[in-house]
Amino acid sequence: MTKTNSTIFHFAIIFMLILEIKIQLSDKSEILVDRSKRGLIHVPKDLSLETTILDISQNDISELRTSDILSLSKLRILRISHNRIQYLDMSVFKFNQELEYLDLSHNKLEKISCHPTVNLKHLDLSFNAFDALPICKEFGNMSQLEFLGLSATQLQKSKVLSIAHLHINKVLLVLGDLYREKEDPESLQDLNTESLHIVFPTGKEFNFILDVSVSTAVSLELSNIKCVLEEHGCSYFLHVLSKLQKNSRLSSLTLNNIETTWNSFIMMFQLVWHTSIEYFSILNVKLQGQLQVRDFYYPDTSLKALSIYQVVSNMFSLSQSYIYKIFANMKIQNFTVSGTQMVHMVCPSQMSPFLHLDFSNNLLTDMVFNNCETLTRLETLSLQKNELKKLANIVHMTKEMKSLKQLDISQNSLSYDENEGYCSWTISLLTLNMSSNILTDSVFRCLPPRVKVLDLHNNRITTIPENVTSLEALQELNVASNSLAHLPGCGTFSSLSVLIIDYNSISNPSAHFFQSCQKIRSINAGNNPFQCTCELREFIQSIGQVSSEVVEGWPDSYKCDYPGSYKGTLLKDFHVSPLSCNTALLIVTIGITGLLLAIAVTVLCIYFDLPWYLRMMCQWTQTRHRARNISLDKLQRTLQFHAFISYSGHDSGWVRNELLPNLEKEGIRICLHERNFVPGKSIVENIINCIEKSYKSIFVLSPNFVQSEWCHYELYFAHHNLLHEGSNNLILILLEPIPKYSIPKSYHKLKTLMAQRTYLEWPKEKNKHGLFWANLRASICIKLMDQTKEIEHIFI
Ligand SMILES: *[C@@H]1O[C@H](CO)[C@@H](O)[C@H](O)[C@H]1NC(C)=O
Ligand SMILES: *[C@@H]1O[C@H](CO)[C@@H](O)[C@H](O)[C@H]1NC(C)=O
Ligand SMILES: *[C@@H]1O[C@H](CO)[C@@H](O)[C@H](O)[C@H]1NC(C)=O
Ligand SMILES: *[C@@H]1O[C@H](CO)[C@@H](O)[C@H](O)[C@H]1NC(C)=O
Repeated sequence: MTKTNSTIFHFAIIFMLILEIKIQLSDKSEILVDRSKRGLIHVPKDLSLETTILDISQNDISELRTSDILSLSKLRILRISHNRIQYLDMSVFKFNQELEYLDLSHNKLEKISCHPTVNLKHLDLSFNAFDALPICKEFGNMSQLEFLGLSATQLQKSKVLSIAHLHINKVLLVLGDLYREKEDPESLQDLNTESLHIVFPTGKEFNFILDVSVSTAVSLELSNIKCVLEEHGCSYFLHVLSKLQKNSRLSSLTLNNIETTWNSFIMMFQLVWHTSIEYFSILNVKLQGQLQVRDFYYPDTSLKALSIYQVVSNMFSLSQSYIYKIFANMKIQNFTVSGTQMVHMVCPSQMSPFLHLDFSNNLLTDMVFNNCETLTRLETLSLQKNELKKLANIVHMTKEMKSLKQLDISQNSLSYDENEGYCSWTISLLTLNMSSNILTDSVFRCLPPRVKVLDLHNNRITTIPENVTSLEALQELNVASNSLAHLPGCGTFSSLSVLIIDYNSISNPSAHFFQSCQKIRSINAGNNPFQCTCELREFIQSIGQVSSEVVEGWPDSYKCDYPGSYKGTLLKDFHVSPLSCNTALLIVTIGITGLLLAIAVTVLCIYFDLPWYLRMMCQWTQTRHRARNISLDKLQRTLQFHAFISYSGHDSGWVRNELLPNLEKEGIRICLHERNFVPGKSIVENIINCIEKSYKSIFVLSPNFVQSEWCHYELYFAHHNLLHEGSNNLILILLEPIPKYSIPKSYHKLKTLMAQRTYLEWPKEKNKHGLFWANLRASICIKLMDQTKEIEHIFI
């Protein structure tokens, strides 16, 4: 049991170790050092030891030594092409065990010394000055070799044999300028490769007898074929092509950089026609000479796709229709003619198997395939970058193309005039590219009804008319780089999922876009001159509500263009308060604020007796004002007390417990006739004495007060005080409300004072007492002379 457990444990550890090593292997990060085009004459010495990719191509390095790269033990890729190296010893790489990609092409190598190097996958020795093939016996052990680039002026079977057992993907064989077939013209048959590219010497008439048909390659490319001399008639090269008929493996042939005559050119097609080749491409062609009209023999071909790119011809007096006829009647699926001066293409004379035609970048006019009824299988047609002018003609052209799904007529000068005949596209059309033309709004009246993808970018469209025939299948619409002022709704394009409308003149996009376009998956509306005002806010909000992947280029390509103060601000960062944008909201807000204020005032009045507070404040300020007007000196000289207090004996409890403590604690001197009694004087004299020495006289009014005789006298005396005439020196405190009827008739003085309401009301609520006392103190506060001594003398 224990033993089994520990075994499992050990396995687990080993497993984890293996896992870790694997992770490290797969996780190895590349360190790229690029020192190309620096005019270097040596391999730089300051390279990081961790370097995995080193590019020192296009320099002037003439030597590669072990010490140069010895320490770069992690080197995987080394590019030294386009230098001046003449000699190479393969043993310099003996310490670079990781090296798998070595590019030594375009040097001046004449000789290499051999040394085992097993890990190379890519070895390029092409475009060098080798005489014999630079193949070492040791190459035979490079079982991982995928690409081998060679150059030589002679091919020897013996050299090739040492790598015959390898399965190489691609071999590039560059034949030097001095190339002559000295030895074995069949030396290619031992090159075991999928794809073979032979580069013949440039600028040399083709007079080789190399048999390429013996090659094992499925794909063959031949570059630099020049045969312009009339006496040979390109016979050497045509002979090479004719031999390909023996090779049934070959399926793809590319001829690159050809200079020949029209007759030889047509002959090449005829020869390839009867081989096993399915894909034939021919590019960079220079043609001359006259063309003899001969029949093209069509039957028995494997050809599926023919592509012709970049053809120039120095003869224009050719029977062009003959050439067009040869091509138009080819029974193949794909046909491309691009970058030629082709001005026309005729309609195939019988039902054509063409599926894909690419005639981009030529000089075709509207007359191409006019009234052509034999292209009913055609699925894609590109007429990009030609001389097309009238859309109506192109619409008419498609009429009989019953299978046409994709049409590219971009980069022409197409316009559409509604009055020019009626518009009936082939119903099968699904993808239509009309970008980079001069189409206007009217184009929306002439669109294929089932179109799914429509490219109209870079035209002259200003609006998408509302009443266009509905395009229910339309999924992708590109109207970028036009002059549209509005974001269209999806009313007529109910399936729209991709809209590209950047670089237009949209300033106020509608916020209802996303409501209208429910199926939208992607919209690009960036780089428009957005007007950052209140209206835009809703659009920005509506963007915020959709997923961020939907809005392409957000937020970087959405910027304010107007007003000036916001120019360049990202829409994302543009904020205005909701209030300033909504008049109704503004009015409602003001209304509500007013109402709340009114309610607050009412509450304050009802529950907190605001008017009482206001009256108190008012009296307080008046008192302060009055106090300032009296000549202080005069007062201060005669006065000993701040206030004399008159009250009924029934209210004495309040006076002693509330009034006195609250006033005297602030240092206010109070004169009470019974407390500050001067012996030997009558009560009346004492009262008068008190009144005269006090700044103010306080009367505590209550129903009790009214009943008291004494109090009445005191009021009378106080009122007629010699010092301060009038009632300025009187302070009335209404302790309890006094019903008017209870005041006796003779108390007319009290009645008038009460009527003037110049009294302080004693508040029942505790929280108001503070203010009451403050107010009272303020009205009797005056700075008195320090007459303490005199007081003592009088009272004690
Ligand atoms: C190739 O490798 C084998 C075994 O690994 C070895 O015996 C042989 O000598 C090598 N050949 C060359 C040419 O290096
Ligand atoms: C023909 O062209 C179409 C479209 O370019 C391509 O998808 C297809 O693979 C081509 N067929 C052949 C046989 O080359
Ligand atoms: C339309 O053609 C232009 C080139 O003229 C190309 O850039 C664009 O991608 C094409 N549009 C579509 C939808 O394929
Ligand atoms: C669409 O509206 C335009 C102008 O608004 C008008 O000239 C045209 O006749 C209308 N087309 C249809 C099909 O209703």
